[in-house]
Amino acid sequence: PFYKTLFGLSELEEKIRSHFGLSQVVVVAGDSDSSQQTKRELGRAGCQVLNRVMRPGDVIAVTGGTTIAQVSGQLVASSPLKTNWFVPARGGLGESLDYQANTIASTMAKRTGAHYRLLHVPDHLGEEAFASLMQEPNIREIVDVIRSARIVIHGIGDAMVMARRRRLEQEVIEAMLAEGALAEAFGFYFDRNGEVVHKMQTVGLRLEDIVKTEVVVGVAGGKSKGEAIAAVMRFGHNDVLVTDEAAALEIAALI
Ligand code: F6P
Repeated sequence: PFYKTLFGLSELEEKIRSHFGLSQVVVVAGDSDSSQQTKRELGRAGCQVLNRVMRPGDVIAVTGGTTIAQVSGQLVASSPLKTNWFVPARGGLGESLDYQANTIASTMAKRTGAHYRLLHVPDHLGEEAFASLMQEPNIREIVDVIRSARIVIHGIGDAMVMARRRRLEQEVIEAMLAEGALAEAFGFYFDRNGEVVHKMQTVGLRLEDIVKTEVVVGVAGGKSKGEAIAAVMRFGHNDVLVTDEAAALEIAALI
């Protein structure tokens, strides 16, 4: 197509990388909104990044969703990662079983000979339930492991798509919209400037943990997610972005 002559994929990668000050951007060809093949390629590129950044002894926190599930389904290690741990980044966020962070963490560990720990806590927690769960030694222990992660690999979604997928109350959705929410990642909702406008109270990684995580890898593609991805990049704590051509063109048009 015409734009390919204007922007090769590597120029797109470099434009996005330098604009957001990332250490690496990978753009795969196509649009994962309409092509399963592109979505698989996105997953495969995510695997390559993960294999490059992982070191012995690492704890890797993962989020849920269909894109990170594509990473987990294709991950292979050249030799067993006997000293690595995969953990969910947060408690259940109302995803169906295949796309839950727990499932993804255990799949990644099993496929690579690593270890995993699961976090069995529900999605929405009131203050009281949250406080008492956090006093449970078993929960406390796994939460401490999660918060010590050196690497986080996460999906990015459109705020309204995710709010509906999680069946948030209409009032909450309207309040978020009024605040300009357009992106979601790690249970946080962001406006176009990358400011957090809504948080979900769940056990696991907090904003302050993400800010200090050494390697934060976002994997998300599809034309429909371009704006959302740009918003999360403006939040400013990613190191690597793996995306596709359709999303990258949307992002490039915004910067
Ligand atoms: O719910 C987990 C999560 O990673 C969200 O943080 C993110 O917005 C979403 O999944 C992405 O899902 P998908 O890859 O299916 O679009």
